[in-house]
Amino acid sequence: MAFPVLAVLCAGLGLAIYKYISGWRRNIAKARKTGLVYIAVPISPISLLWQLTFKIWVPLIQLLPRSLWEGWLFVMIPEWGYKTGQTHFDRLGTETFVLASPTRLMLYTQSAEVIHRMTQRREAFPKDVALYGILSMFGHNVLTTEGAVWRVHRKITSASFNEKNAAHTFAEAISQTRGMLDTWFGPEGERTGTTKTIRSLEHDTMTWALNIIGYVGFGLRLLWPGQTLPKDIDPKLAKYGSLDAPPGYTMSFAASVALTLERIVTILLFPATVLRVLPFKWAREAYEAKVNYLKYMDEFLRDKIEETQGGGAPREGMDIMGQLVQSKYGHRAAKENGPKLDDSEIVGNAFIMTVAGHETTANTLHFSLVELATNPGAQRRLQQDIDGLFGGADPATWDYEKHINALLASHVGACVNETLRLVPPVTVVPKIVSPDADQAIRIDGRTHVLPAGMSCSLMAVCAHRNPRWWPTRPSERTPGAPTDLDDFLPERWYRTRDEDGAAGGGAAAAATATTTTTTTTKGGVAAAAVVEEDIDDRADYGGFQGSDVSAALYRPVRGSYIPFSDGPRSCLGRRIAMVEMGAVLAVIFQRYSIELAVDDWASDEQVAAMGPAERRALYRRAQARSTETIRQADSVLTLKLHGGRHVPVRLVKRGMERFVSDPELV
Ligand code: HEM
Ligand SMILES: *[C@@H]1O[C@H](CO)[C@@H](O)[C@H](O)[C@H]1NC(C)=O
Repeated sequence: MAFPVLAVLCAGLGLAIYKYISGWRRNIAKARKTGLVYIAVPISPISLLWQLTFKIWVPLIQLLPRSLWEGWLFVMIPEWGYKTGQTHFDRLGTETFVLASPTRLMLYTQSAEVIHRMTQRREAFPKDVALYGILSMFGHNVLTTEGAVWRVHRKITSASFNEKNAAHTFAEAISQTRGMLDTWFGPEGERTGTTKTIRSLEHDTMTWALNIIGYVGFGLRLLWPGQTLPKDIDPKLAKYGSLDAPPGYTMSFAASVALTLERIVTILLFPATVLRVLPFKWAREAYEAKVNYLKYMDEFLRDKIEETQGGGAPREGMDIMGQLVQSKYGHRAAKENGPKLDDSEIVGNAFIMTVAGHETTANTLHFSLVELATNPGAQRRLQQDIDGLFGGADPATWDYEKHINALLASHVGACVNETLRLVPPVTVVPKIVSPDADQAIRIDGRTHVLPAGMSCSLMAVCAHRNPRWWPTRPSERTPGAPTDLDDFLPERWYRTRDEDGAAGGGAAAAATATTTTTTTTKGGVAAAAVVEEDIDDRADYGGFQGSDVSAALYRPVRGSYIPFSDGPRSCLGRRIAMVEMGAVLAVIFQRYSIELAVDDWASDEQVAAMGPAERRALYRRAQARSTETIRQADSVLTLKLHGGRHVPVRLVKRGMERFVSDPELV
């Protein structure tokens, strides 16, 4: 009896080993054929098994002789691009390499030239939407679809992203920033001129971004604790805007969105029926959040449809979900017979706007504030520019049309750019070689054929620090660093390309049109057809088309700077995000400065008793710790501080700084 079982087991094992080895050999052969540098790894770095257990294996593998793992282990560690920067690209002597595992072929690139081509040629290199499948759970949407379906979603959703709405968002961002400042200061802070130490900015920057997305996505006015809604507000809006749970709900609308996003992985992994009975707090929270969120969406949809069919003029202000409902149920929509979104797709798109616009913007604000506290020189220059633009004028009077371009062209825009360069929320943009056909691509003057279906990781976070495409100088901040590309230096956005030792050699190549060869393999016969392909940088896929500012500033080589991705699938919310960031930084730094907290080393009395040299030495310790903390950021959904990591800060009224006004501190 035992013998046949054993035999079957052995045969099964043999077959598995055979499949493993033959799959690996096949992929290695394919990798070699691309003509690119390649590395072979024993398991796919994105397989679930590896992702769940790598923390066990990595230290064990590292016990083996270094030569056995040095060449490939780095790529197996999640977020390796942020953690290791240029190191492994330098060691491999390439900007683009291929990985061959038994089950997968992947390409990694930090080449501006390759990134530019892949982001422009949407059909040859579509988005790897399989990775985003889970984000369709509330309905298909613009982020998770491809091809003709995506075009419909993109066309309909992009209608909301216009300059008029950007102006509305500017005003809302100003008002939300004041809510945040009031929360920080209170009457006590107004009197003393300083906040207490804020352990972490994360919670409040998340609230700030959520409140704005509530406005952008749903036309809502969401509140900070202690704020109340205006008395004359529409009772329907009051229901969604309230800080408490309205009848029939167990939490406020804002809480349901925040908690759904926070528990999104749980919600996606477990069906509601399971979550409901699991005896854990996280399960309960996830369940409650989802149930409330769906109920709000349902009711919201019905309200909006009613409002739309009631025939009143659409409400003034930004409201993506309202506009989507208009596009289906509005009077004008009835006359047009273009494709329409169905109800679940309306809800799906509204949800995806909160996913795409919440944590991304919150992190950008969080890191901008921390970087500015860590870099007093940059903070002082930022304040000079803000003073020049607005003087003491009340932010409520700032005019979008008059100010926005100058604001984004100033150090304010440069600081946002610099934060997005160093700590981009989306560190890797995932593409795939079209499954329909192999694709040829020119890299440094040579043509390489990439096999159909291969995944391609555009390593934004590495490209942003790649000295081949960025002008560099020796680092003043980090002695011994090969360049200043790891430093937070907003001034770099005012450098000219040739002023420095930039290896802009690839620039011209990346910017021009290309001739490519598409090789189609059918039944083993390779039929090659040469396709003349122009990279069309100006095609209109909706969203903001203009540049953020004037042409006089440093413009990165196309493909070397992609915090919002690029090309047809680039971020729809780019303009909105830049406008929000411009508003928040200007409002904060017009009247306040931000300093790293030093409580861990000295009390307020001790600091008060210190001379300038001692204060500087103290602040430098805080700067070093902050830099080290930022370096430990990691991604689950976006790049941020995890595991309780935090940078404590204080906000002080201008003129009351203890450290950052010292010109010796840079
Ligand atoms: C600093 C803030 C933001 C950053 C860094 C950012 C970054 C990105 C990136 C990198 C992508 C491309 C993702 C990919 O190809 O896999 C993207 C797509 C998208 N973003 Fe943003 N985003 C930000 C804010 C926003 C905001 C505020 C909104 C909406 C209100 C938004 C809406 C979208 C949408 C709808 C897409 C999908 C576009 C498509 O696939 O056609 N984003 N974003
Ligand atoms: C920020 O980056 C964008 C995109 O590259 C660029 O157009 C803009 O000029 C930059 N802003 C500043 C102030 O340099």
